[in-house]
Amino acid sequence: MKILNYGSLNIDKVYQVEHFVRPGETIATLGYDCFPGGKGLNQSVAAARAGQKVFHAGCVGADGDFLVSVLQESGADTRYIKRTAGVTGHALIQVAQSGENCILLFAGSNAENDKDTIDAVFSNFEQGDILMLQNEISNMEYLVSRGAAKGMQIMLNPSPMDETLKNMDLSGITWLVLNETEGLELTGENEPEKILANLLERYPNLQVVLTLGSDGSVYKSAQEEYRQPVFKVKAVDTTAAGDTFTGYFASAMVEKMPVDKALELAAAAAAMAVAKAGASVSIPVRSEVEDQLVVWKA
Ligand code: RIB
Repeated sequence: MKILNYGSLNIDKVYQVEHFVRPGETIATLGYDCFPGGKGLNQSVAAARAGQKVFHAGCVGADGDFLVSVLQESGADTRYIKRTAGVTGHALIQVAQSGENCILLFAGSNAENDKDTIDAVFSNFEQGDILMLQNEISNMEYLVSRGAAKGMQIMLNPSPMDETLKNMDLSGITWLVLNETEGLELTGENEPEKILANLLERYPNLQVVLTLGSDGSVYKSAQEEYRQPVFKVKAVDTTAAGDTFTGYFASAMVEKMPVDKALELAAAAAAMAVAKAGASVSIPVRSEVEDQLVVWKA
């Protein structure tokens, strides 16, 4: 079983701030870093550092070479990354003293994923392989329909949410990994129980993983339900915590790990990412997560 992650690659320009800038306000920042990022790249790095063979597909411009190197150094296969003439996607990220962030995205080359290239990439994958998707690249509906038609198992992280995703048929999705805000936008429901019930009523074959911030996460399918609390750490930067969780959870699904163990592993990896600055640079390798889990569970 192979993992194909068709996803974004971004240059993250990260500013430490006292508070998020308000309308009409100009503020001096407390610091600046430039990191590799993008929900797609982060999730590939996480799945690769968790020990899986991940093929990352997507687009970068001439200024995005270092993003490809980061993926390669993490162990991901980058043969399906296309170079485009435009600039690479980037994110302007404010990180507050609490570790919380807010993000402005510019799609750049992430908007240049075209149907012909998607078809060519998909010809190398088959039924049963896992397709990971987020919502930062072009042709999302096409990717979902092509993956489903091929019989791939699709893990969709509907982030950032938009009108296309809100109206998309999710019947071809195997795992939906989302947070409460995305859950509200997809279902109109505020409470976790109601979000899960709504999704499973509409899509009875779906496996839903709902992340609840400091309240942990919950997995629900027609057959099973599991809850996982967070591992408490001092938050430095929450950027890519969700991506780390998703990449590690995908890896656990490839290994056919029981769901409760998969949630625990993913939660531990995400907590470790929160304790470090940056997106993909904060994602731990599998042995670090397993060692830390021993400490936390002692
Ligand atoms: O999920 C975090 C990511 O969102 C950042 O790395 C940024 O690039 C945005 O895509």
